[in-house]
Amino acid sequence: MKILIVGSGAREHAIAWKLAQNSGVEKVFFSSHNGGATGKLENLNLPNNDTQTIRAWLASQAVDLVIIGPENPLNDGIVDQLSADGVKVFGPQKAAARLEGSKAFAKAFMQKYDIPTASYKKCESLSAAQNALPEFGYPVVIKADGLCAGKGVYICQDEAQAHQALHEIFVDQVFSNQGASVVIEQYLQGFETSLLCFVSGTKVYPFDTAMDYKKIYEGDQGPNTGGVGCISPNPYWTPALKAQSDAILRKIERGLEKENLGYAGILFIGYLVQDGEIYILEFNTRFGDPETQVLLPRLRSDLLENIQQALAGEPVQLAFEDNVCMTTILVSDGYPKKHQTGFEITGLDTLPGDIMVFHNGTKQKDGKLLSAGGRVLSVTAKRDALSDARQAVYESIKKIKFDNMRYRKDIGTVSR
Ligand code: GLY
Repeated sequence: MKILIVGSGAREHAIAWKLAQNSGVEKVFFSSHNGGATGKLENLNLPNNDTQTIRAWLASQAVDLVIIGPENPLNDGIVDQLSADGVKVFGPQKAAARLEGSKAFAKAFMQKYDIPTASYKKCESLSAAQNALPEFGYPVVIKADGLCAGKGVYICQDEAQAHQALHEIFVDQVFSNQGASVVIEQYLQGFETSLLCFVSGTKVYPFDTAMDYKKIYEGDQGPNTGGVGCISPNPYWTPALKAQSDAILRKIERGLEKENLGYAGILFIGYLVQDGEIYILEFNTRFGDPETQVLLPRLRSDLLENIQQALAGEPVQLAFEDNVCMTTILVSDGYPKKHQTGFEITGLDTLPGDIMVFHNGTKQKDGKLLSAGGRVLSVTAKRDALSDARQAVYESIKKIKFDNMRYRKDIGTVSR
């Protein structure tokens, strides 16, 4: 079997690594360059966001399955278009991808199906948003509607910050055409849990939980990133929370059915737990990054079989190992803002054989491996105990070198 994965980061690398463990998989292509591609994994040179180029390439190839990694092509309708061409593709159609692509759509869906979420108001102009602010008090959350590469959420501590955020969205249009409306929402305080689920038709099958570290600096300080570390399972998850979550999943299934939004793909639920009660912060309709790097190493079932079950609309038979997985992401100094790339990476060949390194942003050039992104490598270990996984990750990181490398030293400490 030959598989194309659209995307080329560490999430896609982890998916490809897991798929390659199935003996029936002959080749896994990345649509564009992943510096970790070896063995069955092979790089193409197709732009990840260019559906027409991907369609044209597929028309001349015998590829059995396409898996979509990032959100932008999903939101652009790549699944609808490839399905129309008769290609077997894993991911939501454009209509369902709106659960991630429009925050207002997602909030309306949650409200309609009685799914717990922070109270909110959708505003389509600067003046409407300014007028709505007094209903919420401070802190308040302001979200630009649309896909904003993880940067469209403002947590505003006071009126001045809220007005600044609205100015950036409506007047400066920092998210270009994405800022035409905002969701203003009540601020919730607690801990977050990532719950990825397979969607098979309108049925939802949860993975084990994970906890993402989003801030760039130790102690959860500094700007948000795409995620700089992750552990699975989430150590704060309890049987009582699982029971609440299961009830929420049944409501989501009802909504998917009633709104005709069923698909074969992933639904990633961002939960916030406040005072023992679960609320949904957001939906994503794809695998999470870095969640995938810690969930797939713990997946005991066969990923390809699970995907095929979802594509057939059958129950997805997921099974997880009873252990802990942790990843710490090595980044280029300056990330998530301006940073330099192109530095040689050494030391990967000195790591113990059970350390998994998924490539976020690297490039093979002239026999060397170079840094090629803000997030560079996800250094990952699986052990029976979190403390052992932590030790294995940080001992391994000491052996990896590239100029301008930095990383958080507190991933896997669970004081929050
Ligand atoms: N870890 C959050 C995301 O994938 O969007």
